[in-house]
Amino acid sequence: MKYWIHITTCFFTCLCLSYSATSQRKSALFNEDWKFQLSLDSTGVFPSNNNWRTLQLPHDWSIEGNFSASHKTTFNQAALPAGIGWYQKDFICTKEMINKEVFIYFDGVFCNSEVWVNDQYLGKRPNGYVGFQYNITPYLKEKNNIKVKVDNFLQPNSRYYTGSGIYRDVQLIIKDEVYTQASDVFITTPVVNKQSAQVQFNIQTTNPKNKKYQLQFNLFDAAGNKVATALETSNHNNRHTTSLTITHPKLWSPANPYLYKAVINTIVDGKIKDVYESNVGIRKFKFDVNTGFYINNIPTKILGVCMHHDLGALGAAFNKSAAQRQLQLLKDMGCNAIRTAHNMPASAFLDLCDEMGFLVMDEAFDMWQKKKNKYDYSKDFALWHQQDLEAMILRDRNHPSIFMWSIGNEIREQFDSSGLTGTKKMVAIVKALDTTRPVTSALTETVLSKNFIAQSGALDVLGFNYKPFDYDSLPVRFVNKPLIAAETASALETRGVYLFPADSMYVWPASSKDTKLGNTDFTCSAYDNTYAYWGTTHENSWLSVKNRPFMSGLFVWSGFDFLGEPVPYPYPARSSYYGIIDLAGIPKDVYYMYQSEWTKKPVLHILPHWNWKKGDLVDVWAYYNNADMVTLYLNGKLIGSSQKTPQMLHAAWKVPFEPGVIKVVSTLKGKVVLSKEVFTAGAPAKLKLSVNSRIIHPNSENLCFITAKLLDKQGNIVPQHDQKVYFKVEGGGSIVATDNGSPIGHESFKNTAINTLNGVCIAIIKPAKGAQSIKISAISENCLPSKIEVKVH
Ligand code: GAL
Repeated sequence: MKYWIHITTCFFTCLCLSYSATSQRKSALFNEDWKFQLSLDSTGVFPSNNNWRTLQLPHDWSIEGNFSASHKTTFNQAALPAGIGWYQKDFICTKEMINKEVFIYFDGVFCNSEVWVNDQYLGKRPNGYVGFQYNITPYLKEKNNIKVKVDNFLQPNSRYYTGSGIYRDVQLIIKDEVYTQASDVFITTPVVNKQSAQVQFNIQTTNPKNKKYQLQFNLFDAAGNKVATALETSNHNNRHTTSLTITHPKLWSPANPYLYKAVINTIVDGKIKDVYESNVGIRKFKFDVNTGFYINNIPTKILGVCMHHDLGALGAAFNKSAAQRQLQLLKDMGCNAIRTAHNMPASAFLDLCDEMGFLVMDEAFDMWQKKKNKYDYSKDFALWHQQDLEAMILRDRNHPSIFMWSIGNEIREQFDSSGLTGTKKMVAIVKALDTTRPVTSALTETVLSKNFIAQSGALDVLGFNYKPFDYDSLPVRFVNKPLIAAETASALETRGVYLFPADSMYVWPASSKDTKLGNTDFTCSAYDNTYAYWGTTHENSWLSVKNRPFMSGLFVWSGFDFLGEPVPYPYPARSSYYGIIDLAGIPKDVYYMYQSEWTKKPVLHILPHWNWKKGDLVDVWAYYNNADMVTLYLNGKLIGSSQKTPQMLHAAWKVPFEPGVIKVVSTLKGKVVLSKEVFTAGAPAKLKLSVNSRIIHPNSENLCFITAKLLDKQGNIVPQHDQKVYFKVEGGGSIVATDNGSPIGHESFKNTAINTLNGVCIAIIKPAKGAQSIKISAISENCLPSKIEVKVH
């Protein structure tokens, strides 16, 4: 027993906390106490010095670096460094553990990881997004060492920020003589009705010694009541198919993500030797070529966004509470689906989607064998795509949130006949492991004779990126195929920046040859009037899908700003302008356009701010719903009423600026629904801190997000005068990162002070071990300071 405690405190604690005394499942996070150093040598030999830094995974070393135009990653990968890094960790095993089957699982290492246990080479995994494991049983001793080399040296290797390092969870999995691997369990719901449903288990058990065993299948409802159970005994090939029937099932949907829990016990000689647990969502999906998508027979427009894997100032290092904050903001906007552009996400991200209610289009690749960047995955594709795609399906197929597999984004093979065979092979790989979900791909070519991926006939659903002007032709050109707008918009905005006139359109870049800078200060207007030439405004994109029932839904590019790809600008720009929400997690104005269209909760949002020059002719817009009219007043004087139209999803006025207050009132049949005011702000006089959650769980992984706003004496946000905010944690935690959502900021995210961007910035805080509360304060020049306390509970 002694040695168990030495593995890591976390490891042992997790086991004790998660499972009952009889439970024999042993799998725990293996994230703590790793040692790391960057290799100074481009050959990446194991460092012989002692300059190791102790850290906790997940870890991304790129985000710790300085922005620079000289990094080979380029601004498309956020102008941050890559290189080669080494990780190692010592751990001690019990005799008991040495006699078991032990696996080490990595949920994602970017990239080209190589792993050694006790200097025994275990293998290499080029793909930086895939989950993979090694059986380390034969090499274990009492005292052990694991080394991981991560080689992200050759650049550029991506069109967007990847991060570098062991940036997702690592787990140690300990198995007994008879067990089931997670990848050998497939749970489906072949029958879903109001009256009853069937949950089916297909299982392959590993049983090298041919032991006799029993499998006990249990299904619990969300309150923990056992609702169905079955028992199977071992058979000659250790394969089992069992169905449980549930009467009056509670169905899973984005609106009501009800989860059951399956627990499969493997029993040998009367003792539970292995436990497999999985969330189960009972639901069914259907696409209709004419009328779109259905969940549990209910017509449901897919209201989705594309999300890259980075978490802004935290880089690629996965953090569940940060992902949860992102998803909550999207949920509040009315979003019901996520496309994991363009790679498999963290497992824990999918857990959140199951729990919070998002449909997920799980995407495998951004390229096949035809490259998009000199050193990208295309060079590994031939050798690795089958293993990587299989790994994705096997890891993810028990998530109820996943409703569609995507075998790739804008794959260049679509343009020649290699796309024909390629697609058939890829789809066959998926279907061999899961026939319950459709397979799609995000295509660009809308002419069938030129699109070989579509011509293969192998895809169940056709996804098209952009080109809304072609939507009406799609059902004619691609007969009998369900359709989805796999990517829309690519509109560009800097939060809080407004360019007049708002009804002029800016196409930046205007073509593939256009190299002119849009604005010399590297900003884009937040009026939803700027977009890249392959895209269009948010309003146009949404209207094009909203009004066409055969378009089953859309995925907006993009939900959040992400690191890299700062179209329309080169360096010093380093993160995107595409997000509905900025990199710091602060919604841009267009968030409320979607919210007013995608939710039923009353919305009235007014833009811009009211700090202009006398004589400026200001475009005032309001996003609203649940009303038939919006009326605008300036300093108490009626300006006029305005409405949405079938082509325009906001109310609009042109108002000569006068300092004071603008007020909008939304009414339905003359009755007031909501009203909002925006005042001309004076000089900064105070700070106001707020937090996304007043209480957090005591785990250093649980971050809280503090927003600081610069206010004038009256409490109005100061929109155009930015100044530095200095954050301090007075006790109980530490500052992990700061950000303001600017795509051109070059100060390190690790700084504890940051300028506001149009009046707002954030600090990300983690609790200290054992802390019961975190006290955070912030100061700024000429401002009353502000404090906030977060309970750790
Ligand atoms: C798409 C591509 C995305 C992103 C986007 C930017 O064509 O699929 O990954 O690059 O353009 O507009």
